[in-house]
Amino acid sequence: MKRIKVNALLKTPASGQEVLVKGWVRTKRGNKYVTFIAVNDGSTINNIQVVADMTLFTDEGLRDVTTGASVSVLGTLVESQGKGQTVEIQAKAIEVLGTADPETYPLQKKGHSLEFLREIAHLRPRTNTFGAVLRIRHAMAYAIHRYFNHNGFFYIHTPIITASDAEGAGQMFRVTTLDPINPPRTDEGTPDFSEDFFGRSTNLTVSGQLEGEVCAMALSEIYTFGPTFRAENSNTSRHLAEFWMVEPEMAFYELEDNMDLAEDFLRYLVRYALDHCPDDLQFLNDMYDKELLDRLAFVVENDFQRLTYSEAVAILIDAKQKFEYKVEWGTDLQSEHERYLVEKHFKKPVILTNYPKDIKSFYMKLNDDNQTVRAMDVLFPGIGEIIGGSQREDNYEKLVKRMQEMHIPEKEMSWYLDTRRFGSVPHSGFGLGFERLLLFVTGMGNIRDVIPFPRYPKSADF
Ligand code: 4AD
Ligand code: MG
Repeated sequence: MKRIKVNALLKTPASGQEVLVKGWVRTKRGNKYVTFIAVNDGSTINNIQVVADMTLFTDEGLRDVTTGASVSVLGTLVESQGKGQTVEIQAKAIEVLGTADPETYPLQKKGHSLEFLREIAHLRPRTNTFGAVLRIRHAMAYAIHRYFNHNGFFYIHTPIITASDAEGAGQMFRVTTLDPINPPRTDEGTPDFSEDFFGRSTNLTVSGQLEGEVCAMALSEIYTFGPTFRAENSNTSRHLAEFWMVEPEMAFYELEDNMDLAEDFLRYLVRYALDHCPDDLQFLNDMYDKELLDRLAFVVENDFQRLTYSEAVAILIDAKQKFEYKVEWGTDLQSEHERYLVEKHFKKPVILTNYPKDIKSFYMKLNDDNQTVRAMDVLFPGIGEIIGGSQREDNYEKLVKRMQEMHIPEKEMSWYLDTRRFGSVPHSGFGLGFERLLLFVTGMGNIRDVIPFPRYPKSADF
C-alpha cells in the first residue's frame, strides 16, 4: 500500500478510507481504553491523530511509541470527535521504524526557546516553528522563480568562486589552495598566488550583480538567486555570513522602472505567502507575533512611500526622537533611522533614492548634481533595508572615473567595462536579501532562525 502524506489526507478527507501514514510522533497520551498518538510528517503543520484501541494494542506493544520516534501507521480514516481536527486514524497496525530514547531525545513536549534550538540546529526542523519557517522558505523560493518566469526574466547562474569584489567593500572570504601556514612566496615575500589553483587570488562571491549585468546586456531581463558570502563581523539579528540573494538585472530600465518592479515583486511575494501558507502563517501569528497577518495584508494593499535620501535626512533631523547615531547629510543611515522612517513617520514601507555617491558602490549612476547617485533602498517595518539596488552607470568614461576615484583596479575589471564599451544601454537592478524577506514574512526576530543552517561569526558547526 502506498503511503499518503498528511497534507493530502487532510485536503480531501474521505471517511472510511484505508490509509498508510508515516511520520514522527509528537505526543502520546491516553488511558487504559485508548491511546492517542499525534503524528507529524512535515508536509503540513497539522498532526494527524492516531487512535489505538487498547483492546487491539498493548502498553508493551506501544512502549517505543514515544515523542520523536518514527512510525508507520496503517488504519482507517474516521471522523473525529476531538476538537480542532476533522478526521483521525483508527489504527490497525503501528510499526516503530526508529526509536527515540525519551531520556536523551532533546525535543520533548514542552516548548523550547529559539536560542536553545539554535544549539541543536540539526534537530530543530522537527519543531512546529521550524517546520513552518522551512515550508514558507520553500514557498517563497518557488514564488520568486514563478514571478520572474511569468514576467519573461531568465534565471542565470553566476559563479560562487570569483576574482572580483562586486561591492568594492572588501568583506570577502578568500578561497585558496595555498598552504595557509607556509605558502609559496614571491621574491618580495608575499604569498605567490600564481601557484594557487586558479593562478590568482579568488574569493566567495558577495553578489552576482556584475555577472548579471553582463547577461542582461544580452538577454534583456535576467535574475540570479544564489548564495552570497560576506565576512563582515556583524553579530546582529539581521546579518549572516552566508545568505541567499535574489538579483534581477534589466536592460532599458531607469530608476523609476526599477522601483516599480521592486514594489510589484515584494507585494506579489507577500500575497503569495498569504494565499499559499495560511496554516503556517496562522501558527506563527498566534505563537510569536499577533500582528503578523495584519502587517502582511497591509503591505499587499498599500503603496510604498518614495522619497529621496535628502528628504529623509531632513525628516530625521526634525524628528523629536533621540537617536544613538547623529544624522547629517552625507552619512549612511543606521537601522534605527531606517526604522524610524518606516515604523514611526510614514508607517508603511519606504523607498529611499538618490544617496550621496560617497556612501554607495562604484557602479551606481551619477546624477547631474555630481553628488548623488541613482540608488534605491527599500526599507521594511521591523527589518530596515530589505532591498538595495540602483540604476547603473552606463557611460564608459564616467564609470572609469568613478573606479579611479575609488581605487578599483581598471585592468582587472576590463571584462565588466566591455559592457559599456560595446552596445551600452541604460540598465538597473537590485538585490533582495532572501532571509530578510523571510524575516518579514514569518515575523521571526532573528535571521539565524529563517535559514536551516546559519553561518555567523564563530559558528559553523557542520
Ligand atoms: O545592499 P547590498 O549589499 O547590495 C548588493 O549586493 C547589490 N549588488 C545588489 C544589486 O543591486 N544587485 O545587498 C542587497 C541585499 C540587502 O538589501 C539585504 O537585504 C541583503 O542583501 N543583505 C544581507 N542579508 C543577510 N546578511 C547579510 N550580511 C546581508 N548583506 C546584505
Ligand atoms: Mg545595501
